[in-house]
Formats: sequence, C-alpha cells, structure tokens
Amino acid sequence: MAIDTARSVHVTPKSKFVRHTKIPTLIFETSSELAKHVANIVADLIRSKIKEDVPAILGLPTGSTPLGVYRELIRMHREEQLDFSNVVTFNLDEYWPMDPDSIHSYHTFMRENFFDHVNVKPENIHIPRGDIAADDVDTFCEEYERTIEKFGGLDLQLLGIGRSGHIGFNEPGSARNSLTRLVNLDPVTRRDAASGFFGEDNVPHHAITMGVGSILSAKKIIIMALGEHKAPVVKRAAEQEVTDEVSASFLQTHTQSQFVVDHAAAAELTAVKTPWIVGNIEWTPLLEKKAVIWLSLQVGKPLLKLETEDFLHHHLHQLIQKYESISQIRQRVFDSLLDGISTRPAGTDRKKVIVFSPHPDDDVISMGGTLITLADQGHEVYIAYMTSGNIAVFDHDALRHIDFVHEFHKLFHPDDQGFLQHLEDLKESIESKHAGDLDTQEMLGIKGLIRKTEATAGAEVAGVSEEFLRFLDLPFYRTGQVSKKPIGEEDIEIVADLLREVGPDQIYVAGDLSDPHGTHRVCAEAIINAVNVVANEGISPEFWMYRGAWEEYEPHEIERAVPLSPEVVLKKREAIFKHESQKDSAFYPGSDKREFWVRAEDRTRNTAKVYNQLGLPEYFAIEAFKQYHGEI
Ligand code: F6R
Repeated sequence: MAIDTARSVHVTPKSKFVRHTKIPTLIFETSSELAKHVANIVADLIRSKIKEDVPAILGLPTGSTPLGVYRELIRMHREEQLDFSNVVTFNLDEYWPMDPDSIHSYHTFMRENFFDHVNVKPENIHIPRGDIAADDVDTFCEEYERTIEKFGGLDLQLLGIGRSGHIGFNEPGSARNSLTRLVNLDPVTRRDAASGFFGEDNVPHHAITMGVGSILSAKKIIIMALGEHKAPVVKRAAEQEVTDEVSASFLQTHTQSQFVVDHAAAAELTAVKTPWIVGNIEWTPLLEKKAVIWLSLQVGKPLLKLETEDFLHHHLHQLIQKYESISQIRQRVFDSLLDGISTRPAGTDRKKVIVFSPHPDDDVISMGGTLITLADQGHEVYIAYMTSGNIAVFDHDALRHIDFVHEFHKLFHPDDQGFLQHLEDLKESIESKHAGDLDTQEMLGIKGLIRKTEATAGAEVAGVSEEFLRFLDLPFYRTGQVSKKPIGEEDIEIVADLLREVGPDQIYVAGDLSDPHGTHRVCAEAIINAVNVVANEGISPEFWMYRGAWEEYEPHEIERAVPLSPEVVLKKREAIFKHESQKDSAFYPGSDKREFWVRAEDRTRNTAKVYNQLGLPEYFAIEAFKQYHGEI
C-alpha cells in the first residue's frame, strides 16, 4: 500500500490523486483512511531501514491532525509487531517557555499519544525543550540542527498545516532557509490553540521550532490536512504562488513532497471545487447541479435565463455535449431546488420529531427557525442534548452563579452554615485557580447545570417545553477536557433507548463532520449507530442533517430549504440569547469571532439571497438541510 517516493502516484480505492496542484495531492474520503495510508508509509520506511540495518529518522508533528496516524502506528506495533527500536525521532516544535511535564507541553502530548505506547528508545527521542533559559536558546537550537545532521538528516518529515499557513511554527514571514529558532506565534495560531489551554490568554506567545530550511532538508515530506477550516490554506499552499506569507507553499520547491488531505480540506482546490475548469470529468447528477448553480452565480443570471453561450464560455461545453440542449439540465436543477423548498418540514399530519443537539445550543443556533416552525405547526418535538457542554463555560460565569446561590441561601436559609461554607470554598477555589488548571468534577457539574438551564430557557422560547427535553450527557464527553474518548456501546445504547422511547418519524442531526476529532462527529456516529440498531426493531425515521454552528451547506447540497419569516428569525435570536454563557465571547469561538446569533442570521440570510439570485422565490432567510443517505 505504500508509495515508493512521495511524488509517485499511489491511488487506493478510496483516494483520488490531483495533478493540477503544485504540490501533488492525494485526497481521501475519510480521515481514518488517510491515517492508515500515512501510517503504512511510515511502517514501510521503518521496515526497509531494519532490512538495511540502519536507523529510520522521522520528523514528527503534534496537533490534532497526526493523532490518527499515531493511533494506527500503535495498533501496528501491538497487532503486527511493528518494531520501533531502530527509529530516531525529531519533533518539530515546542512552546516556550514550557515545562516538559506540563499537560500543555508537546513532550506530554508525544508521550501520551505515541511514545508511551511503542518501543522507540528514550535516547532516540528528540523534542525541543521549552524550559531552556532565554540566554541558552540559540545554542540549544544550533545543537538541535547538528543532531539531525549527525543522523544524516530526516528520511521522512510528517507535517500538519496551521490556518496561518505555518509548518512547524514557521509563521508568515519565515524565510525559506530558516533553521531551528525561537519564534513569535501568530494570533491565528494562538486562537486555534486556545481550547487546549482553556482560553487564549493562557497560550504562550513563543515557541521553538525547526525552520523551513530544516524541514526542506528532509528526504521526503508528507503534509497532512483535515477539515474544512483548513481548505483555504491548503489551496493557497498547494495551488498558488510560493510566498513567505504561507510557509507551507515552500514545499512546492521540494521534489519529494506530497499533500494528503481529507475531502473537507480539499474543498477549495480547483480540481474539487470547479473540476470542469481543469479537464475531463465524470459527470454525476450532483456535480451537474453544482456546475449549473456555479455558472448561474458566476455570470449573475438566474438559472432559467442561462444560455448556451454561458455554458460554452465557462468550461461547461462537456455538459452541452452530454445534453444536446441546455433547457433540460437548466430545468432539472431549477426544479430540484424548487422542490426542496418546504414551509412544512414535517408535513401536515402531527409527527414525532427529535432534534439532536451535540452541545446545548446547536439546536437553536443551527436550526432554531425550523425548530420554532415545527413546534408552531403542532408537531411533537423533542430535543436531545447530547453533551453537557460544561467545558465551554468561563470560570467567571460559574463564579457569578455560585455567588447567586450563596446570596440566595444567606437570605432564605441563613442557618445552613455547612452549605454556606461550602459555597464560600467553591468561590475561593475559582478565585485561586491558575491558568490552565483542570476543573473538579463538582465544578464541571456546576458548569453543566448552567448550560442545562440555558438550554431549557432557549427551548422554551422556541416552543418546546421542559418535558420534551432530554439531557443525554453521553459518556464519551465526560473527560473534562477538549480531547474526548471515542464513542462506545454505552453512548450508542443511550441514543437507541431514546429512539425506542419516542419512536420518531423524523430526526435532525448535526452533520458537520469535517473536524475529525470534534464533538459533532462523535455525536453523529453515535446516532447513526443507534439508528442502525433500532432499524431492526421497526423504527426508521426520516434522517435529516443540519450543519453545525460554523458553516452552511453549499446550494447544490441542499435537499430541503425551510424559509423563515422575519418574526421567526427574531424569535430564533431570542432563543440564542438565552445561552448567556456563550454570548459576547464564546469559550471556543473558532475562526469566526462574531457572536453566534450574528453568524446564524448572516448564514440564513445569505442562503435566501443565493436562492433569489438563482431565480427562486424571494425569502427573508432560509435554513438548509440534507438527507442522510448512508454517508455524511
Ligand atoms: C505541531 C505543528 C503545527 C501543527 C499545525 C496544525 O507540531 O508543528 O504546525 O501541525 O498547527 O495543527 P492541527 O493538526 O492541530 O490542526
């Protein structure tokens, strides 16, 4: 399964090789296939070096991207006796200053996610140290470079890519020949690291990183990217000019470099986004719909006004050849969009509906208008909150709630000295908390309660009363940290029990699965598994997906469009406002710092605008859904 050189074309059944990029790119349908592919390449290298009786020298990244590769290599070590005793490793980077024993250090990350589970010899492991005194950093960095050279250079460098375009921590402005050194972290990088540090303020401002030049000295380089948030930077690095604004673009100058990306991270590549521009393609009904919608928006004409000339001048002559006349395809795309518009998303008879909300606010943020519409039209609507969302509550919010309970008790139960003292202690524990300290179980419980009461208030505004709410608190989430456990039988059984209890006609599930380690993906996996379990028991609801809080489906993907009136949009905003702990600045805002209600309104207004541009009726706002057909 492995490739001989990083540049050769290696196509597994579920991967696609893209030739139109300046860095050869292999696209995988899923992150687990990608991880297996890369792990196979590493394993082949290790085995071939064992045969030659020389060490295999690996350059390794941290971050969420390589986790699947490490997991697969650990599996190979356990089940296939893959031997790491000849492996020498050099990690790309480490925060500075950083105690190697801190839970935030890359030393800890590598131990927990890889080294503790394989037999790399401790003396063969090299990771920049974050506890070097400022005066000694330069000498340390020179020594790091010399040690790599002493081993004859890196045989294979694995990389992730940051949204700032960095490889290692080579932020914009890094020179092509830069070597290991102390650097400042870009604000984008610090924001992306915020969740692991329990807030952006706790993220260090500096790091020690191998340079672009150190990375380019490797014999082979594999750069990985997962998730739609990486799509724009993947395009810049792989397709556009080489520039120090995007360090990863320097890989274009290395003859043995290759991008391996999942479907979501590939989304902006020309060969994926507008494949008709780059050559012959196999047309599918979905791709035809995508192309015709793209053409309509490109030339600024509604669908039914498109002319043969428009197709000819925009690389779509292949479609004309296929259909002889354009009226057929034009009409088909128009009809499919029109048929998808529904002001009665659950029909006219009273239906049982479950809206699954991964976090306590995804329901109202992502499909609040439809929720309001369903409740208003008399359907029996349940909302299942899958996780407590407790890790996204700020300490100061917890403090305010405890303060309220404290004052309440002082006023109404002044004799309950034991409890009053306990509340004092809780307040004190928050005030004396150090940046990055983990919460106690009790504090996580309090934070979970805050989110539960907010969700209840939000649902009430949407027209769903408390008796129809289910707080599933799935076990996979209960780590108290950003990293979660994989889903287990217990999670699936909890969801299956709910499906048995309600026997829904329709379910709505968050389907934004591009973040391979995200909570939404794990929740969707639990639901899909549970749906399969209960299907044998005669429960088979219509399965609709909505996108999460961040993005919307592209117009060609939308199978149901629910128009929202201005009143419904306003009510939805009110429901979102009930999530006070997520207002102003959310704990995990992601790349978009606007408040959730602003994003939600922009997104639904924008979909309505696009529909109108395509020549469909004019609506105030639209929420979009896609049906689950066995894959997401
Ligand atoms: C990590 C590193 C970084 C990450 C990049 C992507 O050692 O050097 O360049 O690879 O920030 O991070 P994730 O994979 O978390 O998206």
